[in-house]
Amino acid sequence: MMRKTLRLFGLMLAIALVAAACSSSSDDTSTTVASGDGETTETTVASGDGETTETTVASGDADMASQVEVFSWWTGGGEAAGLDAMIVVFDAAYPDIEFVNQAVAGGAGTNARAVLASRLQANDPPDSWQGHAGQELIGTYVAADQIEPLNFLYEQEGWLEVMPDTLIPLISKDGNIYSVPVNIHRSNVLWANPTVLADAGITMPTTLDEFYTALDALQAAGMEAPLAMGEQWTTMHLFETIMLASMGTDAWDGLWDGSTAWDGPEVTQGLDDFAKILTYTNADAAALAWQDAGQLVLDGTAAFNIMGDWQEGFFREVGSEPQTGYTWAAVPGTDGNFQFLSDSFVLAKSAPNRDEAIAWLTVAGSLEGQDAFNPVKGSIPARSDGDRSLYGEYLLSAMDDWASDRVTGSLTHGVVANDSWKSEIDTAIGLFLIDGDVAGFQAALAAAAEASG
Ligand code: GAL
Repeated sequence: MMRKTLRLFGLMLAIALVAAACSSSSDDTSTTVASGDGETTETTVASGDGETTETTVASGDADMASQVEVFSWWTGGGEAAGLDAMIVVFDAAYPDIEFVNQAVAGGAGTNARAVLASRLQANDPPDSWQGHAGQELIGTYVAADQIEPLNFLYEQEGWLEVMPDTLIPLISKDGNIYSVPVNIHRSNVLWANPTVLADAGITMPTTLDEFYTALDALQAAGMEAPLAMGEQWTTMHLFETIMLASMGTDAWDGLWDGSTAWDGPEVTQGLDDFAKILTYTNADAAALAWQDAGQLVLDGTAAFNIMGDWQEGFFREVGSEPQTGYTWAAVPGTDGNFQFLSDSFVLAKSAPNRDEAIAWLTVAGSLEGQDAFNPVKGSIPARSDGDRSLYGEYLLSAMDDWASDRVTGSLTHGVVANDSWKSEIDTAIGLFLIDGDVAGFQAALAAAAEASG
């Protein structure tokens, strides 16, 4: 009787937890709550906009099953599939630990990070979460003392031998290493529809001037918006690549260490270029996710899209083929430069399931985990010993470029600025999209650097 009551209570508690999770998080969060002896109830909850929340509740009367709660924003477009591939490796290595996938969709992490922030605020951290190498990690979670150093794991797994020297300082503070990088992404990639270009007699542009000429020709031939863009974070993404193209790498790097003046002529020129580039983009950008913008290129509605190389994960997932469905080059004016970001996973301080989180991080940093994840995700492994035979044409070119190009950091994806500075820049971009005032935009950027830099 007692056992039955406890079981019922456990089930009700689990359902209450799930209901709370559903009401507070975004549309397509999938939640798994496990407790007890392996009996399972599955519930599917459809939310207002047609997206679906799947809930698995395991109830029972034995000890809490061993589990690890991992938080990310990989819910679709090649990204969820990449994570799933790594979960397969995890499940094989740790069959007794349940992987609780707390991915929250949307906005290159904007939505997920809002949910994460409120959980951290409430002292209810997931065991491990996705964070970008660089200032996002150091200036946010390390600064707030929310994550544990992982030097012991680096020593145990020999990771210092295989993780790139460029990356370690970006995930370290005072000799402590704070995360496990799973990949390297490139942000300065121009994706294009080869058929559209061939039909218009256009070759891939290599300079900003060639880019303008190609975009003008496409518009003159009747393509209203030859450069596909999506919601606001993708505008910031476009901004960072065009600024790099316009200013050059020394000046771009100097914006983040104070050696380039935000109110100087290089920034003015960069903003003029950015303003011009925006005239070629679609009017409905704000309503489109990055995958939607990529789809416009696949459909031939647009010729180009500037997006990180996760776009290739999406292209491949929808069955498009390199060189026939899509082609690529460095963003015009940035050849020889690799504007990078790296997704990494952290260990929460006071993680509810610390041992299990360490098991997850061990897989995330392993060769097998990275070689399962990255070919699907559309990124190259953070480790230098990935098996090249598993990667397609684009990713092999990215591996070569990563090894030989000049490496510089992404703004949108956490490398060069901490969260508060980035958010001020985002506000300035939002205003600029409304008023188009370059001088006001530059003044706002200079003020943001003054306040946060
Ligand atoms: C980035 C992240 C990538 C990809 C992208 C779009 O911030 O680093 O892995 O997820 O967002 O979702």
